[in-house]
This record gives sequence, C-alpha cells and structure tokens, in this order.
Amino acid sequence: MQRAVLVTGASRGLGLELIRQLGRAERPPRYLFAACRDPEGARGRDLKNFAKCFSNIKIVKMDLDDFDSIQESAEEIQKVLKNNGLNLLINNAGINLGGGLNEITPEIMMKTYTINVIGPMMVTKALLPALLQAAQLSDEPGFSSKKAAVINMSSIMASMELFNIQHGKTYAYRISKAALNMVTKCLANELKPHGILCASVHPGWVRTDMGGEKAPLTKEESVQGILKVLSRLSEQDNGLFLDWRGQLLPW
Ligand SMILES: NC(=O)c1ccc[n+]([C@@H]2O[C@H](COP(=O)([O-])OP(=O)(O)OC[C@H]3O[C@@H](n4cnc5c(N)ncnc54)[C@H](OP(=O)(O)O)[C@@H]3O)[C@@H](O)[C@H]2O)c1
Repeated sequence: MQRAVLVTGASRGLGLELIRQLGRAERPPRYLFAACRDPEGARGRDLKNFAKCFSNIKIVKMDLDDFDSIQESAEEIQKVLKNNGLNLLINNAGINLGGGLNEITPEIMMKTYTINVIGPMMVTKALLPALLQAAQLSDEPGFSSKKAAVINMSSIMASMELFNIQHGKTYAYRISKAALNMVTKCLANELKPHGILCASVHPGWVRTDMGGEKAPLTKEESVQGILKVLSRLSEQDNGLFLDWRGQLLPW
C-alpha cells in the first residue's frame, strides 16, 4: 500500500468511493488526502462524515477553478508530509457539461478545459516536489503506484479509435479528456527519468451523478477494479490508457 495518497474531487462519486475503499483497506495509506472544493459546505458533508472515523484522512480544500487554491492546498499537504513525499496522486475531479454543436459555447469549452485539463496539470505541477521526494526516498524497485505515480481519470469518450456517438455528443468533455490523455503522455515522458509513473484510467460507465442511473457499473465495482489496476502498475504501463479492468484502450 502507498504511504501517502491524494484524490481530487473526493466529495462524491468515484472520488469519495476511492477515499472509502482506500480508508478501509487492510493496509491503508498513512496519509490519505481528500481534496474537495467546499469541505465546510453541503458538498463536503458525506466526505466529512466518512472521514470522522479515520485519523489518516485529511480533507484539503481545493478548487480546480482557482489556481491559488491548488497551490495553497499543495503547500498544506507538503507541510503535513514534511519531507516524506506523496506516492500517488489521483486526478479524479472532472465535469461534463454536455452539449452538441448546437449547445456548445466558448464558456462551456473553457470551463471544461480549465477543470478537466489545466486543473490536473496544475495539481501535478504543484505537487511535483512531493512526488519527486517519494520517488527518491522509496526503496521499491522500478515504477509503481507505491513509489510515485500520477493517475489521470480519463474516459473512453476521449478515444478517437473507439469513437461511438451513442456515448453522447459532448464536445467539450470528449475534447478535454483527449487533451488530458496528452497530458498523461507528456508527463509520462518527462517524469520517467525521475521514477514517477503516469497513466490515464477509464473507470467504466459508472452510476454516479455524472454517469447517471442507467450506467451498468456501481462505484464500488469500478473503484475495486481501479485499485487493483493501480496496485499492479509497472514500468510497462507508463504513459498508457487503461480501463478499470486493466485493459489497454486505444487513444
Ligand atoms: N461516472 C462515469 O461513468 C465516468 C466515466 C468515465 C470517466 N469518468 C471520470 O471519472 C471522474 C469522476 O467522475 P464521477 O462520475 O465521480 O463524477 P461526479 O459524480 O460528477 O463527481 C465529480 C467530482 O469532481 C468534483 N469537481 C467538479 N468541479 C470541481 C472543481 N472546480 N474543483 C474541484 N473539484 C471539482 C466534484 O466536486 P463537487 O461535489 O464540489 O461538485 C465531485 O467531487 C471524472 O474525471 C469523470 O470524467 C466518469
């Protein structure tokens, strides 16, 4: 198990379920940072209630729409970690505002790009010193999520090869997740010499606020699969696009 993990978008959906399953794991992380944009408000209530019983869960306020808040929470996280590093960053927070060509506006495009692409990049940038520390201090051989890894929560809707219009005409979402996949590729290339792994993960179609009621997968099933995939990541997975069962997806 990783010593220190950060999950963004931990207030609900897959992010909250990641915190639940990591928190209840047989060997939970010593530090489990749950980032949420409104910990004191109604949005943060479920996370706060869950975290009450776990001394290792630290809730941090982070709004991906506000780059100062990303920097501030990164500083707070590094203060708690001292010089021990962050092993695993899961860039999970995301939005899907829907919309085909008739509905799309520059505002929807820019908002989606900010949260789904620039946000994860800036979180990774702000936490890079902690990820580098974890990679340097780890005695884990090779590459792994126990050593140092960045996981970007992507979507099969980003895949050009698997393009299926039945998945929805969501221009902004598809384009942003395709761009996020390129972020994964760039990070995987740049961070490899430092021992930090980076991969994109598609969680499946999951019953959350975003996935909707018709989705076939529960949050529990998806997150169980994702955590299994993360526990098995190695150098050969660096820069890949995998699904929640560990299957390779085409770009
Ligand atoms: N569900 C699916 O079928 C599916 C499929 C493919 C990929 N994904 C991806 O999986 C990830 C999680 O999806 P989900 O289904 O759990 O979505 P969700 O239920 O809609 O939850 C989204 C999370 O992102 C957070 N978030 C939104 N805007 C934010 C901001 N400005 N700053 C910080 N956090 C923000 C939300 O926080 P608030 O509670 O504060 O709004 C919430 O915690 C997303 O990246 C999504 O694209 C989901």
